[in-house]
Amino acid sequence: MCTSRMVLQFFNSSILQFFKQMKRTKIIDLLQRTDFGAEVTVMGWVRTKRGSKAVNFIALNDGSTIKNVQIVADVEKFDPEMMKLITTGACLSVTGTMVESIGSGQAVEVQATDIKVFGECPADYPMQKKGQSFEYMRQYAHMRLRTNTFGAVMRIRHNMAMAIHTYFHQHGYFYFHTPIITASDCEGAGQMFQVTTKNLYDLKKDENGSIIYDDDFFGKQTSLTVSGQLEGELGATALGAIYTFGPTFRAENSNTPRHLAEFWMIEPEIAFMDLPDLMDLEEDFIKYCVRWALDNCKDDLEFLNKMIDKGLIERLEGVLREDFVRLDYTEGIRILQQAIKDGRKFEFPCNWGDDLASEHERYLVEEYFKKPVIMTHYPKAIKAFYMKIDEKNPVLDGQEMEQTVQGTDVLFPQIGEIIGGSVREEDYGKLMNEIEERQIPMKDMWWYLDTRKFGSCPHAGFGLGFERLILFVTGMQNIRDVIPFPRTPKTAEF
Ligand code: 4AD
Ligand code: MG
Repeated sequence: MCTSRMVLQFFNSSILQFFKQMKRTKIIDLLQRTDFGAEVTVMGWVRTKRGSKAVNFIALNDGSTIKNVQIVADVEKFDPEMMKLITTGACLSVTGTMVESIGSGQAVEVQATDIKVFGECPADYPMQKKGQSFEYMRQYAHMRLRTNTFGAVMRIRHNMAMAIHTYFHQHGYFYFHTPIITASDCEGAGQMFQVTTKNLYDLKKDENGSIIYDDDFFGKQTSLTVSGQLEGELGATALGAIYTFGPTFRAENSNTPRHLAEFWMIEPEIAFMDLPDLMDLEEDFIKYCVRWALDNCKDDLEFLNKMIDKGLIERLEGVLREDFVRLDYTEGIRILQQAIKDGRKFEFPCNWGDDLASEHERYLVEEYFKKPVIMTHYPKAIKAFYMKIDEKNPVLDGQEMEQTVQGTDVLFPQIGEIIGGSVREEDYGKLMNEIEERQIPMKDMWWYLDTRKFGSCPHAGFGLGFERLILFVTGMQNIRDVIPFPRTPKTAEF
């Protein structure tokens, strides 16, 4: 039977619960406070517990900061059975008095008066031991977020997203949402993942053996986008300056520490922009993001600098100090060939016309110039159809060689290519030639060509791989460790 008294009791206890919740102090805020003697409630996960029979010291972390707060518990004041449940990984609510700390490395600690175990953590907790390898932790991507390293990386990732939106907003760019499902593969940037609702066990084919898509969801073959650029150009040639920031998908079987099948890309696109301005934008934008990290992620960077990569902060500061080198592709090839003559060994060849391998890019950036490089004027054949063809190549002047384009790649230490961009070909006739020469299906391209047909304008843009930026800013070595749940060949867990 449910009496009115029981209802009242329930009501009172949930109100109590509510107010307790309201009073929760985040550890990041607690560690700033100096009103010692105040009663506080903190909630979080146990990092470690140590101490004697009389006093236990619990390091508690709630994800708001890399820093833990030290909880001091006089053992005799608490139920011994409850105290046994406080193990690494357990989730607690602790109420107590905020006191000035002498020994814990923090200014503040909490002398516990009440401890509630929200969730105990049995011994098979996969993040139990310290110093597990990143390969091991990847198998437990759902739990690795609770470690110091992944907490730091995810907070920095968030901060970089904020930096990017702030930069573009302050510079008058509009955040423009381009579709994720697309019916064109005009970019040719990579293999695509198909999107279909068709019954794969019963595919209808025409007389040539091609699958019939008329009865598929969109009535045509569709895929996940490899880039928002082409639609971004539609936005830029109407709004003046836009940027996209969304997921992109590439089905290449590239099992490297720099490639994901699903990654986030930032693609600004700007009307009336030429090559020198594009390069200035690329440099200014990356420096802004790096400065933001140094200004806003100090504790996390210091942790990563100590535990992951001793040269990290110095490298970030170095990028801010240096002017990026602006290097013509042809000049880059000359430097690489000279290095080979001088005995430097590379796995892949590098003759004029070759796409540079990561080892070549890293040689130029890390060994030769020792600073970031913006490479330009690539051979037409190794770049996308939409890049503006050079009237006259600044280095090749007068020589009989293939045409070059106003493409730019930004090459970074440790990373290699972090940005790919270009001035776009705005001339209808020239663009058509490229489309025909490369046999890109015209029927898919009509809307894109309309930008060149109706009020065409010079414009340019680039794509920054978000995870490559996070790799650089965190000093992490593998791109799988800077996104919460990586998608790579044969991996789509979580
Ligand atoms: O050089 P990409 O292929 O250029 C484009 O997609 C253009 N549409 C960009 C534009 O001009 N708007 O890719 C741009 C960047 C690369 O420089 C790299 O940082 C990142 O995207 N990227 C990847 N990141 C992680 N995994 C992959 N598989 C990546 N492929 C490219
Ligand atoms: Mg590229």
